[in-house]
Amino acid sequence: KIEELLKEVNNLKASNAEEIEQLRLKYLSKKGEITALMADFRNVAADQKKVVGMKINELKQAAMQKINELKEQNAEAEESADDIDLTRSAYPIALGTRHPLTIVKNQIIDIFQRMGFTLAEGPEIDDDLHVFTKLNFAADHPARDMQDTFFIEQSASEVTKNILLRSHTSNDQSRIMERQQPPIRVICPGRVYRNEAISARAHCFFHQLEGLYIDKNVSFTDLKQVLLTFARELFGPDTKIRLRPSYFPFTEPSAEMDISCHICGGKGCGFCKHTGWVEILGCGMVDPNVLEACGIDSKVYTGYAFGLGIERITNLKYRVADLRMFSENDVRFLDEFVSAD
Ligand code: PHE
Repeated sequence: KIEELLKEVNNLKASNAEEIEQLRLKYLSKKGEITALMADFRNVAADQKKVVGMKINELKQAAMQKINELKEQNAEAEESADDIDLTRSAYPIALGTRHPLTIVKNQIIDIFQRMGFTLAEGPEIDDDLHVFTKLNFAADHPARDMQDTFFIEQSASEVTKNILLRSHTSNDQSRIMERQQPPIRVICPGRVYRNEAISARAHCFFHQLEGLYIDKNVSFTDLKQVLLTFARELFGPDTKIRLRPSYFPFTEPSAEMDISCHICGGKGCGFCKHTGWVEILGCGMVDPNVLEACGIDSKVYTGYAFGLGIERITNLKYRVADLRMFSENDVRFLDEFVSAD
């Protein structure tokens, strides 16, 4: 009888507190089966008392332990079923971060806005007229090949080369001059497209920021000073700039601007190919042909323009080695800019 009860007790199951209490009553209460066995102990023959006594004790221990176990299991189950704790503080919400290009773009905008430039934006899909023709690109001029342009199909069979993805933000120049008379002092950030193989150093789209200043008596000196101020605001007061003569159809004279390498401080490192300088923008005095093509009197007004590469500058500021990181949306990369903004 004791052995039977022992087996029974070890296999007890219960699914709620009520059932557990029933089991406790059945075996361990005053009227329970085990208690009854103990009451019967008097009747056991003297020579058996020791063995039977031990057995009964073992049974009682087993029953108590089993019932405790069931109680614990039940408590755990109940807890996970309704674990809404209205007193605990809220889960933190994972916030997104600003994209590094946005961070740098905003810094650049801020610097130029403090110098009196206003913000404007132009279309990414534009026509040949505004991207090239008004900017003094001759129809057969090799300069059109300077930028590998994506053209847009007009119909399944026809690519007229008239509608295209802009290859630079300079289309914003022609669009603004067309609708506004000087003084014009504007910056236009935006995305541009070029048909280039994607690699660590080139992408088929990237970002530029165009600057344009047209007024009476605007000179190259003004351009140089604005660019120097810009470079020092963005990269620190020790930054040096250097202008190298260059060519763009829409500016004359034209220049490319290098800044002293932010990473080695101009001493020479792998990033600047050991020259100490990194190119960040193209610039120049707006060609009189461009002013005229856009309806501005080139005998009264002069102006300058510049176009800078936002990826280039971001690479330099944050040492991003591979351009592709900017468009792959790897959260591990983006999370590094949590506090940069
Ligand atoms: N549009 C030129 C480029 O993409 C840059 C530039 C802008 C140069 C304005 C001069 C003036 O390379």
